[in-house]
Amino acid sequence: MKGVVLASGLGTRLMPLTAATNKHLLPVFNQPMIFYPIQTLAKAGVDEVLVVTGGPHAGHFLPVLKNGKELGLKHLEFAFQDGTGGIPAALSLAEDFADNDSLVVILGDNTTDADISQAVANFKNGAGIFLKKVSDPERFGVPEFDSQDKTRIVKIEEKPTSPKSGFAVTGLYIYDNQVFDIIRTLKPSGRGELEITDVNNHYLKNGQLAWFELEGFWSDAGTFDSLFFSNQYWAQKTSPNNKQD
Ligand code: DAU
Repeated sequence: MKGVVLASGLGTRLMPLTAATNKHLLPVFNQPMIFYPIQTLAKAGVDEVLVVTGGPHAGHFLPVLKNGKELGLKHLEFAFQDGTGGIPAALSLAEDFADNDSLVVILGDNTTDADISQAVANFKNGAGIFLKKVSDPERFGVPEFDSQDKTRIVKIEEKPTSPKSGFAVTGLYIYDNQVFDIIRTLKPSGRGELEITDVNNHYLKNGQLAWFELEGFWSDAGTFDSLFFSNQYWAQKTSPNNKQD
């Protein structure tokens, strides 16, 4: 299993911070944001990683990540996304890197202290998504569960105005190699982007979507509120000044 971190996009919701650098290099307590998803992969034994980035500050990643060794990686590659065609458009750049292997994909602004090792180790084929209970599901992809069988997802909606559950589909995914053929069938959504929710619904329709609930902390960091929330959590968890005796 190989890993992909998607760290492109313009980060317009975090302007003017993102006038200075790429969103995923902004600090989350004492590390650049992108260290966290890479550490999640390394902790799960995924040590061959592709970082997809883009935009005017793409060159800032190299001196920060170098060859990835300090973060526990054996191999680190970069790809450049032209424009912001959406998460699946960024993921499509990983096809050669995947070389028919399965992929763990993490959005570069998602941080978690959950351990995904078991889901990664047990994965055979199809797709896996990770859910987390949140107070503001309307900001995310949201699963709707079967009214009888509460463990069965019937549909995922992207940023619904009336969410059908209190779960967010987090930006952590596991895909087999079919994902690239699925991406080729997608059409842009109302916001003019390819949607990862359409990829997940495709697997769901084929009866090939498994889901797991993420244990522990999870947040995105693409808005000032969620960036602040992430900083607060990681400061409290990591700062030596906050350690209880
Ligand atoms: O954080 C989880 C959510 O992420 C999911 O619940 C949603 O289903 C999913 O669509 C996504 O929603 P956002 O609207 O928050 O995604 P955003 O456009 O902020 O992009 C998240 C990350 O994906 C971003 O930090 C970098 C990467 N990305 C995004 C786009 C649009 C790319 O690499 N390329 C892109 O073109």
